Amino acid sequence: MSFDLLLRGVNLVDGRHGVDVGVRGGRIAAVERDLPMEAGEVIEAAGQLLSAPFVDAHFHMDSTLSLGRPRLNQSGTLLEGIALWGELKPDLTVDAVVQRALAYCDMAAAQGLLHIRSHVDICDPRLLAVDALLEVRRQVAHYIDLQLVAFPQDGYLRAPGAIDNLKRALDKGVDVIGGIPHFERTMDDGSESIARLCHLAAERGLPVDMHCDETDDPLSRHIEMLSAETIRHGLQGRVTGSHLTSMHSMDNYYVSKLLPLMAEAGIHAIANPLINITLQGRHDSYPKRRGMTRVPELLAAGIPVALGQDCCMDPWYSFGCADMLEVASMGAHVAQMTSLAGISACYAGVTDTAARVLGLEDYGLREGGPADMVLLQAADPFEAIRLKATRLAVIRRGRVIARSPARTSTLNLPGRPPEISLQFRPGSL
Ligand code: FE2
Repeated sequence: MSFDLLLRGVNLVDGRHGVDVGVRGGRIAAVERDLPMEAGEVIEAAGQLLSAPFVDAHFHMDSTLSLGRPRLNQSGTLLEGIALWGELKPDLTVDAVVQRALAYCDMAAAQGLLHIRSHVDICDPRLLAVDALLEVRRQVAHYIDLQLVAFPQDGYLRAPGAIDNLKRALDKGVDVIGGIPHFERTMDDGSESIARLCHLAAERGLPVDMHCDETDDPLSRHIEMLSAETIRHGLQGRVTGSHLTSMHSMDNYYVSKLLPLMAEAGIHAIANPLINITLQGRHDSYPKRRGMTRVPELLAAGIPVALGQDCCMDPWYSFGCADMLEVASMGAHVAQMTSLAGISACYAGVTDTAARVLGLEDYGLREGGPADMVLLQAADPFEAIRLKATRLAVIRRGRVIARSPARTSTLNLPGRPPEISLQFRPGSL
């Protein structure tokens, strides 16, 4: 028995330690201790974490890396971000969007982020961003799975032509139906947009992923309508509410009624901690709300919650580098998910749970599964999040597509060791 690639002595997310993982023909052929050393390539990885790749359930690849064009967001609000994107849109070219998106995908591959769901704005009648991201999806297919959501950024009912543009985007091959009910002109229009988009999803047999209630207004309750329409159209398990930030500010009694409704509808939720903590609460004095949705409460109600990056160097967010461990870390902080179970749920939010939200069928580190993996300079998911661990190797279909050197520091301190890493294992865990 010989392997194309053998990773020796790794730790796995499920808690197994010191196992070998053998890869053959682009798939995981064996996961057990002391596999024979016959392999085309052997990676000695004793004590380091081998994980399924990262999954970003919510991103905007058409605007990524456009920071500063034509100017920076001064107020830091969602609404100025939308206005700023509107200023940039007339000057976009397919080539510029493709080049920026490919540069982001390089970053993602280096960070072990191999599955991305990106929203793409369909309000420009040229559908220029759609054409660009369809081209990117084709070009990166051998290393990144890119799902696209038809996203009416300026409103499905509010933006002239958006209804027709959204259909045309789906006809071109966009995978998922998006929406933005809280940005329609009125609450009633928001409800109407949800009803129409869910009807379209049922008609076309497509999933739905709406930006929903991305506001601090506790009376923004479009998630209720989205849940009800999901049930009415039999779309259970195929509908996602992204952001859901108004839930942070809602009355507790109302939320106690809402959570079971969302569970009944089989709704998936996506929180975007980096963006929610910076965009929300901007109209508050003190105390300032965090604005992220109620992640622990959603999870306790049986609703899967993924954590998304949302933005990277664009009109809404100036930071980011495709690092889903940074997203998980911010999620743990903002939601105060600091127990071991909470930290584990945050790790799942950028791996397993996100894969479930995206409906990925061939995902997971298991015998017979695809040899898509990331080797981290960390002993376990807790340490991976704490350190935003270095991706020592990223593997796609059995091939190492990216490597990074281990992070160490050289000390010049008398009586202290000359070289240290930031890995530190407390004895009690
Ligand atoms: Fe978004």
